[in-house]
Amino acid sequence: MPELVLGPLLRFTSATEATVWVEVDEPCSVEVLGATAPTFSVEGHHYALVVVDGLAPGREQPYEVRLDGVVVWPDASSTFPPSVIRTLDEGAPLTMAFGSCRVAVPHEPPWNLTVDEADEGFEHDALRVLAQEMIHGHRENWPDYLLLLGDQIYVDLGSPTTRAFIRSRRDTDDEPGEEAVDYEEFSQLYREAWSDPVLRWLFSTVSVGMIWDDHDMGDDWNISRSWVEEMDEKPWWHERRRAGFIAYWIHQHVGNLSPAELEENELWCRIRDGGEVTDAFDDFARSANETADGVRWSHARDFGPIRMVVIETRAGRVLEADRRRMVDDDSWSWLTERIRGDVDHLVLVTTDPYLLMPSLHDLEAWSERVCAGAWGKRWSDRGEKLRRDLDFDHWASFGESFAELRDLLRQVASGRRGVAPASISVLSGDVHHAYLAEVDFGDPDVRSPVVQAVCSPMRNPLDAKERRVIRFAASRLAQGIGWLLRKTSRAPTPGMSWEVVEGPWFENQVGTLHVDGRHAEVRLDKTLPADGEDRRLERVFTRTISG
Ligand SMILES: [Fe+2]
Repeated sequence: MPELVLGPLLRFTSATEATVWVEVDEPCSVEVLGATAPTFSVEGHHYALVVVDGLAPGREQPYEVRLDGVVVWPDASSTFPPSVIRTLDEGAPLTMAFGSCRVAVPHEPPWNLTVDEADEGFEHDALRVLAQEMIHGHRENWPDYLLLLGDQIYVDLGSPTTRAFIRSRRDTDDEPGEEAVDYEEFSQLYREAWSDPVLRWLFSTVSVGMIWDDHDMGDDWNISRSWVEEMDEKPWWHERRRAGFIAYWIHQHVGNLSPAELEENELWCRIRDGGEVTDAFDDFARSANETADGVRWSHARDFGPIRMVVIETRAGRVLEADRRRMVDDDSWSWLTERIRGDVDHLVLVTTDPYLLMPSLHDLEAWSERVCAGAWGKRWSDRGEKLRRDLDFDHWASFGESFAELRDLLRQVASGRRGVAPASISVLSGDVHHAYLAEVDFGDPDVRSPVVQAVCSPMRNPLDAKERRVIRFAASRLAQGIGWLLRKTSRAPTPGMSWEVVEGPWFENQVGTLHVDGRHAEVRLDKTLPADGEDRRLERVFTRTISG
């Protein structure tokens, strides 16, 4: 009898459709609310994405998962509320929870015995505490949508069960040690990250979208051209990339697509009839490896009058000797068609924050110039080392892309690309601290308030020293130093200003964007410190963006 391994995950939902993803332990037929899908098999693992259609709009419908006709979900012993598919009610308020960076380690002290570098411990998982609050709290407080903003798995950190698994199957003395390399090891990482019963319930009942960041593939992934060249020399990196692309498509990407987009997706069309499809994924991974162009990981989704555009900023980077871009040209032109007005609210999503704290922005802009040789060869080598040590690879260090998105935002906000939205929010993660920044274009035509909201980590807090560095970065002194460095390197001015009005906040945390009519607000909740049994989220701030 087939059994569930992972899931169900409720992925895409519209007014009448939903997709439900599962991993199972043997080939079978998967059924949800009368819709069925066969499993497709990759390297001995079996998955299905069930496309459910014909649902009533704005309704909440409990569902079961059947494998070959036998109910396997919900588990008969479950004490959680029923798993439901809630279809979109166009025009109703929307509550979107978001955050990034979640290591998979035990949920009890001492949290993790294998990662010595985590001085502060990994403590309470904000996503899991959110789910616990949902289970015990009021139904009306549940988020409608959950957005996981990168580092859903850490190839290189934590995950003690996966590390033990890796040690049991190969020699870990050589590079890359206990980091995942092949598909089997990636599969274990996802299993470890998503098996907890509380999380499984959460993912089964709140529509979840995801986009990867570097650790879903490897630390510093595509940070620079020289990094790419170095990694290409490593024999294990090619297998890692192949496995990472396949694992991401299966576990994360496919569920971001609507049923209509699935119909147009070449790989989906090859695997939808099920069976052994490793070859199809091999072909796909080859083309994804060879060229960023042609594989679009960015995606977009309308929640009635609210448009969300997710900008993928890792796999599609252009890292040529004389040209650096955050997003490849094909994806960028696709994105620019969708980043426009005529919507009530525009939500842009980029795992790497678009707007860093001003001092860090200047430092990264300086870094890009210095790495490119503005201060000579010796400084360029030092700059590259610094770039990798300090993760200087956000939009600020891709100056051309920064300017392109700035111009686009200004046009949308001033009503030059359709009617200006009531609000424009940029949601990000990655940096292991949370903040909210308000943008000032210095342009009287701008009508839409524009904010950058960053929420990271869900579970991977900075240690005390790192927090001091970030606090210093928020100071006027750091701002002055950054300004001076940027000036001396002749890096371009940002062409707009922004101010951090909330934060920086540390701890494990989860952000929320809540939209109701013209009103939009951003909230941040953090988990309480490790000691004490009381696992609750504590409100850090609520700030109105518009309306
Ligand atoms: Fe992270």
